[in-house]
Amino acid sequence: MASNKKSRIKDAAFRRMLSVVLITLLGVVLILFLLQKNRVSHIVTRYSNEIDQNIELTNTHSQFRRKLIPKQNELSILLEKKNQWPPRNLDLFPKLAKDHITIVLYVHNRPQYLRVVVDSLSQVVGIGETLLIVSHDGYFEEMNKIVEGIRFCQVKQIFAPYSPHIFNNSFPGVSPTDCKDRDDSVKKRCKGNPDQYGNHRSPKIVSLKHHWWWMMNIVWDGLEETRQHSGHILFIEEDHFIFPNAYRNLQLLTALKPKKCPNCYAANLAPSDVKSRGEGWEKLIAEKMGNVGYAFNRTVWRKIHRKAREFCFFDEYNWDITMWATVYPSFGGPVYTLRGPRTSAVHFGKCGLHQGQGESVSCIDKGVVNIQVEEIDKTGNINSNWGVQVFEHQTGYQAGFRGWGGWGDTRDHELCLEFAGMYHFRHKISS
Ligand SMILES: *[C@@H]1O[C@H](CO)[C@@H](O)[C@H](O)[C@H]1NC(C)=O
Ligand SMILES: *[C@@H]1O[C@H](CO)[C@@H](O)[C@H](O)[C@H]1NC(C)=O
Repeated sequence: MASNKKSRIKDAAFRRMLSVVLITLLGVVLILFLLQKNRVSHIVTRYSNEIDQNIELTNTHSQFRRKLIPKQNELSILLEKKNQWPPRNLDLFPKLAKDHITIVLYVHNRPQYLRVVVDSLSQVVGIGETLLIVSHDGYFEEMNKIVEGIRFCQVKQIFAPYSPHIFNNSFPGVSPTDCKDRDDSVKKRCKGNPDQYGNHRSPKIVSLKHHWWWMMNIVWDGLEETRQHSGHILFIEEDHFIFPNAYRNLQLLTALKPKKCPNCYAANLAPSDVKSRGEGWEKLIAEKMGNVGYAFNRTVWRKIHRKAREFCFFDEYNWDITMWATVYPSFGGPVYTLRGPRTSAVHFGKCGLHQGQGESVSCIDKGVVNIQVEEIDKTGNINSNWGVQVFEHQTGYQAGFRGWGGWGDTRDHELCLEFAGMYHFRHKISS
């Protein structure tokens, strides 16, 4: 009797197991079938089951065929490995502060500028609480040395493995069979698609937009150190001077944002008008997204990532103008950012390059910038009781702008889309 019951139980358990196995198998077969059958390229993010619609092929782009990403050279492979290395200075700063704002500094090859930026960062109050990621477009010893010398916070270097600067005779660099300038590809039998103005790609020019997009994708979705980061990430460039109060101000702005400006997607360290140092009012300002010291969170990144096609197909080589003209307008409403009335970051250029703009222009000459840090810029200078002044209908690039070109080659479009899919499972298009 007892053994009979036992075997019945065993039997039932066996049947349950069998049905679980069968259902799982069926599920797998069904998924495989769907993957095979479905021509639409689906991606499932690795970290959630959310299906991004951005990479789904829409009819307008169904002629597009995904090709393999460029063949990597030795340097490219090495750099990709380096990207896995842990941050430096873990001995000095073993822990990041809870709720820290990660800082990403993206650079190319201007060591004189980078030195100034790094010096300014070393004075930032609270910098030791966070992780600084330096994203390099190209591989340059002098740039590396500066970053390796940083001792004021955790620092991690990453290198764009498909930067045109590290491919000297093949795509994404220049390859011998590429068309140049205004070549006729049929007559010259060269490779490439001209942009809307008839010009062929220039690797030096396309590298910036590629780098920015690659960096966004790896920082939010790829890197061990940041892919789970739930807060904001601040993005700055190699020609942005950062004031000592930048980090504390930014912490306050991001904390105030949900309440003070529910329509704001981001917080900015500087006005969107890069020549302005702010109004000096006792008010916060909500205005259009700026490109100097902008910080946003993962929710906003997901929104941007969903617009990969808009970003990658728009014939404009500047990432920021691409965002203003296509990506932000596609969000379906004004895209504001919140900032303080005094700037906490300044964009600088080479002295004497912009004549006639007066002395207020920030510039660098022989490695020295003419930017004075006043007492009021040394500590947090935002008051959480201030109201918000909204700047509506600002001028500048917006929906309808057709782009400056420089981004007409389908190989660049494809590489860009590949970056969007790097950290998302995707099956190949089956026809
Ligand atoms: C390209 O770079 C590789 C290694 O980086 C080097 O060996 C080769 O000589 C370079 N070729 C040209 C054409 O500069
Ligand atoms: C991220 O920021 C957006 C825009 O400010 C906000 O709507 C959203 O709730 C934030 N997400 C999280 C997870 O805090």
